[in-house]
Amino acid sequence: MQKIGKLLDLSGKTAIVTGGANGIGYRIAYRFAEAGANVVIANRSEEEGKKAAETLRKKGWKATAIKTDVSIENSVKDLVKKTVKLYGGIDILVNNAGIYPVIPLKEMTLEEFDSVLAINLKGAFLCTKYVAEQMIKRNSEGRIINITSIDALHPSSIGLAHYDASKHGLWGFTKNIALELAEHKIWVNAIAPGGIFTPGVEKFLTAVPVPGHVDMKKMIETLIAHVPMNRLGEPDEIGKVALFLASDMSSYMTGSQIVVDGGVLLK
Ligand SMILES: NC(=O)c1ccc[n+]([C@@H]2O[C@H](COP(=O)([O-])OP(=O)(O)OC[C@H]3O[C@@H](n4cnc5c(N)ncnc54)[C@H](O)[C@@H]3O)[C@@H](O)[C@H]2O)c1
Repeated sequence: MQKIGKLLDLSGKTAIVTGGANGIGYRIAYRFAEAGANVVIANRSEEEGKKAAETLRKKGWKATAIKTDVSIENSVKDLVKKTVKLYGGIDILVNNAGIYPVIPLKEMTLEEFDSVLAINLKGAFLCTKYVAEQMIKRNSEGRIINITSIDALHPSSIGLAHYDASKHGLWGFTKNIALELAEHKIWVNAIAPGGIFTPGVEKFLTAVPVPGHVDMKKMIETLIAHVPMNRLGEPDEIGKVALFLASDMSSYMTGSQIVVDGGVLLK
């Protein structure tokens, strides 16, 4: 039986966190780096990715940034190639990059629908495909963690039809890939956060309501009013669960989705 400290130890492991420069992704990268992993922050904004990696390195941890747009196949291929060249392989992938613009159906264009699906669902597919290929080649145990949402199970607000379609899709993708990759010792699980206070959600709060659009501030107030814990979650509350799923603490788990929502889905 492993000692508790060893169970959470990610020393020698390499982890890619997409969208790891901010919010939930950054706190996941933080906990992984603290646990000893080589962390690759794969973020669309190069500047933000570099800044986040530098903050982690200043703590004496191992982190690097690779500019990536998860919705572009060549960008994902480049991320995987560079990570393997740098660290010799990939042990952990977190598909976290995601967007959630609020647009009611009658105003939603095909381009807006496509852009949400392209990042939230197609991006996770591309990263999983090319990372799993490397994991299988190396024949070592791997972990894939998909950040879904409570919207993968139940809609939280109008204006998120494209988002909910992408997150329901990501949950279905998680289960199917878990089934396919189990024989290669690649464990695939999901985390479904409720409302977590991040730069993305902050944008919601500060958005000026446009006539005909959903009132964001009201939406957040309504969201909090529905949380039995009576508050939004902190990004680190997802980071800690991601560390559990990336470590030997979850050695007999695959194809599961952990809801981390302060009790929202109870209502
Ligand atoms: N915050 C919440 O309340 C909440 C709730 C449920 C699920 N989630 C999910 O958690 C994930 C992170 O959300 P957040 O609130 O931390 O978001 P955020 O907007 O605060 O941060 C997202 C990060 O992803 C990056 N990113 C965006 N598009 C990208 C792309 N194409 N390629 C690479 N990087 C890209 C951004 O630059 C940013 O650093 C998303 O998948 C989101 O759907 C968030």
